[in-house]
Amino acid sequence: MTLGKPVTKAVIPAAGLGTRFLPATKAMPKEMLPVVDRPAIQYVVEEAVRAGLTDLLMITGRQKRALEDHFDREPHLERTLELKGDLDRLDAVRHASRLGPLHYVRQGDPKGLGHAVLCARQHVGDEPFAVLLGDDLIDERDELLSTMIEVQARTGGSVIALIEVDPTEISAYGCADVSPVEGQDHVRVNCLVEKPSIADAPSNLAVIGRYVLHPAVFDVLEETRPGRGGEIQLTDALQTLASSDCEGGGVYGVVFKGRRYDTGDKLSYLKAVISIASERVEFGEELKAWMKAFVS
Ligand code: UTP
Repeated sequence: MTLGKPVTKAVIPAAGLGTRFLPATKAMPKEMLPVVDRPAIQYVVEEAVRAGLTDLLMITGRQKRALEDHFDREPHLERTLELKGDLDRLDAVRHASRLGPLHYVRQGDPKGLGHAVLCARQHVGDEPFAVLLGDDLIDERDELLSTMIEVQARTGGSVIALIEVDPTEISAYGCADVSPVEGQDHVRVNCLVEKPSIADAPSNLAVIGRYVLHPAVFDVLEETRPGRGGEIQLTDALQTLASSDCEGGGVYGVVFKGRRYDTGDKLSYLKAVISIASERVEFGEELKAWMKAFVS
């Protein structure tokens, strides 16, 4: 019986090929692309830690060594900074290695997000768990994951995060058909479609990269055949769970109205970097003044 078990584990899939960012991602994981002064993945790990998740598992693969190095100690660099008295930078370097402990599993062949999540099965076991994608950054001032964890505890099913997008953008996302749940601020998910055309989209609610999943998803993923793009899609497994009455069946959605930054493609990444940089106290005002002058 998994109902009521607290969520303590975060799975962070980072084994994708990052083809939309080639050639930058030929030898470097896209999750390591800098967003101002930290790699994108660090924001995601920090978010998981803020939500109280204490057991972090990253799904990695070939060309992903930099991810492990980033969250590890770097004694030589630390000593050099210490000797120079550069304590702020020393602190920043150490901070990344203190977020853990992080665990790693290699996906081997990146057969899709659903397959990446399935690689976490042995580590996660029979408890609900969070999944955070490195592409999506949630502003640290906005609550999302802890709300999703609460909804998972209340419903006993799986929970996805949704945002409203312009209908012309829905074909870039998984899309959800939902019904309200009386007296609750979450919704029930009736049906999910991966990257539908505008004509086939059941709504303008797009799935973003935060999930709190019931472990029943693992059995479903074992049976999920490659779908769109020849990949084993997490959306397809969730679609099966959405219409299941078994233990762990039922999918619920939290509609997120806060600030989210997409770093998965080049233009969205540039917008994310500018948005986050313009809020930084050290240089935000100077950057905004420069942008105004640049645009005019
Ligand atoms: P994406 O759909 O953005 O795929 O994956 P991608 O391969 O990383 O990037 P593009 O589309 O080729 O540019 C969403 C998340 O799922 C992970 C990615 O690392 C990313 O965090 N992922 C995807 C895996 O871990 N394994 C996979 O097989 C696919």
